[in-house]
Amino acid sequence: MNIAISPITEADKEWVLQVVRNWGADFVISRGRKVFAVELDGFIATDDNGERVGLLTYEVTGDQCEIVTLDAFNKWSGIGTKLIQAIIDMLNRSSVKRLWLITTNDNTDAIRFYQKRGFTIAAVHVNAMEKSRELKPSIPLIGFYGIPIRDEIEFEMSLG
Ligand SMILES: CC(C)(COP(=O)(O)OP(=O)(O)OC[C@H]1O[C@@H](n2cnc3c(N)ncnc32)[C@H](O)[C@@H]1OP(=O)(O)O)[C@@H](O)C(=O)NCCC(=O)NCCS
Repeated sequence: MNIAISPITEADKEWVLQVVRNWGADFVISRGRKVFAVELDGFIATDDNGERVGLLTYEVTGDQCEIVTLDAFNKWSGIGTKLIQAIIDMLNRSSVKRLWLITTNDNTDAIRFYQKRGFTIAAVHVNAMEKSRELKPSIPLIGFYGIPIRDEIEFEMSLG
């Protein structure tokens, strides 16, 4: 399968909103704040048939960039890697110095994935999901592999 990566356009926005809603609301929570990912820039992965098979959204603030959402709809086929590579390539041509993101303690696939792609753990925000649930009650108590969702893990990568 060939995967093409392109920036999100206005025509993609309804689909982006559906992807975000699949996680329980129109917004995601990161470090105790609501982030409306549909309003952000990002990249879309499409397959040979033009089907959208992956999404990455990001937010640049000063010299830092947060990956706000990352979804691959056919896991283990290289989509996530290509999306990460696209944002790193873009940021390497900018003045952004730090790329960071939040995942949760249950997301062991993501924790492996990010570490193998050059990210390191910058912080573990213990019990941060309690506050997140106040803003987004739809966040389940139990996550991947039956693991209680409790902590935010902050990953980072230095750029430039
Ligand atoms: C985490 C996530 C984004 C990773 O994306 P992905 O597209 O599955 O990742 P990739 O396919 O690029 O890489 C995953 C593994 O598949 C392997 N892989 C890639 N292409 C492959 C292929 N053609 N055949 C077999 N294996 C392959 C990679 O080697 C990689 O293994 P590694 O991490 O041990 O090196 C994805 O699992 C996902 O969407 N998860 C649900 C949403 C989520 O949790 N997002 C992150 C929130 S912070």
